[in-house]
Amino acid sequence: MPNVFKPQANTLAKASVAMSLILPVAVLYAGVTFSRSPANTKVHVPLDQPIPFSHKHHAWELGIDCRFCHISVEKGAVASVPPTETCMTCHSQIWTNSPLLEPVRKSWETGAPIKFVNGDVGWNKVNTVPDFVYFNHSIHIDRGISCSICHGAITDQQITEKANPFQMRWCLDCHRNTERFLYKDPEQPNLSPRQQVFNLYLKLQEGATLTRREQEILDGRGDTYKPTEFEIKEGLALVKEYGVIKAQNSDCSTCHH
Ligand code: HEC
Ligand code: HEC
Ligand code: HEC
Ligand code: HEC
Ligand code: HEC
Repeated sequence: MPNVFKPQANTLAKASVAMSLILPVAVLYAGVTFSRSPANTKVHVPLDQPIPFSHKHHAWELGIDCRFCHISVEKGAVASVPPTETCMTCHSQIWTNSPLLEPVRKSWETGAPIKFVNGDVGWNKVNTVPDFVYFNHSIHIDRGISCSICHGAITDQQITEKANPFQMRWCLDCHRNTERFLYKDPEQPNLSPRQQVFNLYLKLQEGATLTRREQEILDGRGDTYKPTEFEIKEGLALVKEYGVIKAQNSDCSTCHH
């Protein structure tokens, strides 16, 4: 993983978790309640970044594919954040005088990572799960789970913000009721699940007609979408088709190795 994020101070968290994993359920609940406070979860708080990078501009209006910048999201556990070279494929030629892009040009000239004006090495990491939680992007993309179900209305954001606190309950709600979340575009059912994920953004950019579900996903409400009875039936068929084993996915060891 490239060294583009500021290190997180969570050594303490690691130590306390080793203990908390053997605590009874009541204590677990107390912990979950605590971790829901906004100060701790930073949901919908745009973070300070060295450059005001806009997904609305780049991913929606310009229609650049997520994978152009987050190159490992389909194949790896981490999505990765793009290095300076990726920005310079365009910004060595366009918007070359923008003062907002000065940190990119400086990084390009010096070979050092993108930094804040005060010298802090950015980008600030928006989304995290604690170190004792195992997460893997590729399996989710492979099952057609949209980025926006987990990351919210990212294509509408001028500054990236965390959409979900990523509580255990929230992960489990999908793992236990997967049929409510699996779907295909009814007009393009032959696309593979992973193609479905990226095709949604293409449809958005082209101004294509969206289903109610697709619209809610793009609006950042995909995790609370209420599927119709018919959609649940289709979801159950997909659970079967993809061979999703719900019990196994809800097993503690799936996320806590
Ligand atoms: C032109 C490059 C580019 C494209 C295209 C792009 N991103 Fe990003 N993305 C970035 C950069 C740079 C950051 C780090 C700065 C930030 O958080 O805004 C980032 C951050 C993110 C983050 C937060 C990362 C963290 O710190 O937790 C998410 C989530 C994300 N992108 C999702 C997407 C999705 C979904 C798409 C496609 C719809 C997409 N991105 C398209 C460049 C891009
Ligand atoms: C595929 C081409 C492309 C790539 C790659 C790209 N950009 Fe851009 N970017 C653009 C275009 C085009 C604009 C002008 C958008 C507009 O205002 O309509 C722009 C505008 C911007 C602006 C606003 C500049 C201003 O003065 O208003 C910033 C900041 C920016 N990009 C940052 C980045 C960063 C950081 C990266 C790398 C993570 C990046 N861009 C990658 C094409 C690109
Ligand atoms: C099932 C939920 C889920 C889906 C779907 C998802 N993400 Fe994430 N994403 C997460 C979680 C959880 C993290 C924090 C991971 C961590 O801390 O290790 C994260 C972190 C990130 C990051 C920060 C860098 C990293 O890899 O840790 C980026 C960038 C990102 N996601 C982009 C994307 C893009 C692009 C897509 C769609 C192609 C996507 N995500 C789909 C849950 C999801
Ligand atoms: C919207 C639905 C959804 C959400 C939300 C979600 N997952 Fe998943 N997850 C899936 C599906 C679907 C699979 C694939 C199951 C299968 O094919 O058996 C999966 C599989 C996994 C796996 C197994 C990976 C492997 O390599 O076998 C892990 C680990 C995982 N998820 C962790 C998480 C964590 C942690 C969160 C919360 C931060 C989360 N998931 C949120 C749908 C979801
Ligand atoms: C789908 C992924 C997933 C599964 C399965 C899962 N967890 Fe978690 N767990 C998480 C995430 C994400 C967190 C961190 C967020 C939070 O604290 O809610 C977490 C946090 C915890 C914590 C720390 C709570 C706190 O407040 O700090 C404990 C203890 C825990 N899990 C125990 C378990 C046990 C026991 C099981 C099996 C019954 C289990 N987990 C199954 C994802 C999962």
